[in-house]
Amino acid sequence: MTAPALIERVHSRFAERFGGPPAALWFAPGRVEVLGNHTDYNEGFVLSAAISEGVVFALRPAEGARGRLLSVDLRREAEFDAARPAPTPENSWANYPLGALHFLLRQYAAPPRGFDAAFAGDLPIGAGLSSSAALTVAATLALAELHGLSVPPLEVARIAQRAEHEFAGVKCGLLDQISSLFGEEHALVFTDFRSLDVRRIALPPGAAFLLCNTGVKHRLVDSAYNQRRAACERAAAHFAARLPHPVRALRDVTSAEWAIAKEGLDPEAARRAAHPIGENERVLEGVRRLAAGDAAGFGALLYESHESSARNFENSCRELDIVVEAFRRRPGALGARLSGGGFGGSVIALVEERRADEIARAVEAEAGAAIGHATPVMKIHPAAGARRIR
Ligand code: GLA
Repeated sequence: MTAPALIERVHSRFAERFGGPPAALWFAPGRVEVLGNHTDYNEGFVLSAAISEGVVFALRPAEGARGRLLSVDLRREAEFDAARPAPTPENSWANYPLGALHFLLRQYAAPPRGFDAAFAGDLPIGAGLSSSAALTVAATLALAELHGLSVPPLEVARIAQRAEHEFAGVKCGLLDQISSLFGEEHALVFTDFRSLDVRRIALPPGAAFLLCNTGVKHRLVDSAYNQRRAACERAAAHFAARLPHPVRALRDVTSAEWAIAKEGLDPEAARRAAHPIGENERVLEGVRRLAAGDAAGFGALLYESHESSARNFENSCRELDIVVEAFRRRPGALGARLSGGGFGGSVIALVEERRADEIARAVEAEAGAAIGHATPVMKIHPAAGARRIR
């Protein structure tokens, strides 16, 4: 359920600023990555979920080709030529919807239309819950309707991804957009990022998810992300030249093959590659454990994933490690790991449902004291995907 207060806030700010109500509103949720870290752009597997929090985007057609975009949360506005959307350095928040508009117009050769739009969200910024993908997906859905286009969900995901690549400079995979679009209540989203097949998987009974926001976002996150991606591509090229079968991406390499064929690859790229390769195997094992109702066994894979992040991929940080260790010490905590790109952001934990509140309070207190600032822990409820709400 989208928070009515958020919808109301966007609706009333839109009306105040643009004189009259929006024609329609859309909602796109944030996402949490449950297992499968940096596997999406390696054509591997991920278990994720859409969450209840996200972005509401309101829009109304306008005369001519003038576009106006209001960020309710930032209290900033951007005005532009809707026929020629281009990235703007001074309003970087606007680049996500502008990118969506650019790629929609280009891909569908749609005649441009003017519009007024306003948006706001209830996702904690910098928590690694993909507020940018939520904004871009919501904007893509709204702008597709404005231009009379019927765009299939996977195309929406691709357009939103291109907007992030080319208007915001982050070479992200498709995880955030797909999770936001394909979420379902009480279920995890299992995605094969080669075939782009999406399946829903029931949650383990008696278990609940907690999310702890470390409140840190280390500098250079975007460039570190792009570097990790480049190391994976270097490694894939190496294995393609060594292994007797085709290797298009690290998805095609097993841990056993990694161990035999990593010789000659620079040690850093070899360690980086070990992470998505191991993650792919953990996700498939995780799906088996979930099917067997083995919540504890599934949780153990979360701890393994975090260790591999810290050791191999080096996308963890002191604060994330402190939170994972705080969970590990609590009876009833089944697993915990960093979720998303890394270098800050949030930890996702699987816990016994009946002890969830007690664990949340203890971790919040313990990790907060060790880190030196508040590290709020919230319950996460897998929720429905992006949609038109009015
Ligand atoms: C970020 C990216 C995703 C994915 C994760 C790591 O959230 O946007 O595409 O690569 O990091 O799994």
